Amino acid sequence: MGEKWDAHVTQVLYTQQQIQKRVAEMGVVLSTAYAGKNPLMVCVLKGACVFYTDLLRHCTIPLEMDFMRVSSYGDGTETSGTVQFLVPLSRAITGRHVLLVEDILDTGTTLHAVLPTLEAQKPASLAVCALLEKPARRRYPVPMACCGFSIPDVFVVGYGLDYAEQYRNLPYIGIYTPEKKDSEQCICVNP
Ligand code: IMP
Ligand code: MG
Repeated sequence: MGEKWDAHVTQVLYTQQQIQKRVAEMGVVLSTAYAGKNPLMVCVLKGACVFYTDLLRHCTIPLEMDFMRVSSYGDGTETSGTVQFLVPLSRAITGRHVLLVEDILDTGTTLHAVLPTLEAQKPASLAVCALLEKPARRRYPVPMACCGFSIPDVFVVGYGLDYAEQYRNLPYIGIYTPEKKDSEQCICVNP
């Protein structure tokens, strides 16, 4: 065995307990907002899957589930700017109250491309709920029904979020720091 497998996760941003508390609050907000609407809650794979399954168990109203997968990232930490539809929704959303459940709203590139495609199907409503958002990096405005935490411009992993498909199974959200070749490449807070 080499180094500790989460050695590059240098700081815990939100603990498992902090996440669970906030996700429970979001479930209450969504249960009120969507009462009587039988919403279609769409998990945006893969990153949102852990958040989605926790969130839905805090929703106390009738709802339906669906999944879609889009990809704008390769194995790096910067968006490629091109959105691919890898897994489409399983059925039409015309007339439905649709809530997209996302892991993180970063530049907004992904949802900026996805939302018009879904709007074209004429849902009764279309909104986004994200566990995290990075307001400093936003390039496109995205209407948010509900957001868990606003975070600074850092790359985070855990609780479904990955770096190169790793770390999704961490129960907390932590800051990922790329490998340093030597100590001189360490980030200096006060240069
Ligand atoms: P956007 O298109 O720039 O808003 O990025 C959306 C997607 O990029 C998210 O759904 C994530 O899958 C991924 N992403 C953005 N920031 C992070 C991060 O800090 N950690 C892990 N994935 C991220
Ligand atoms: Mg994602």
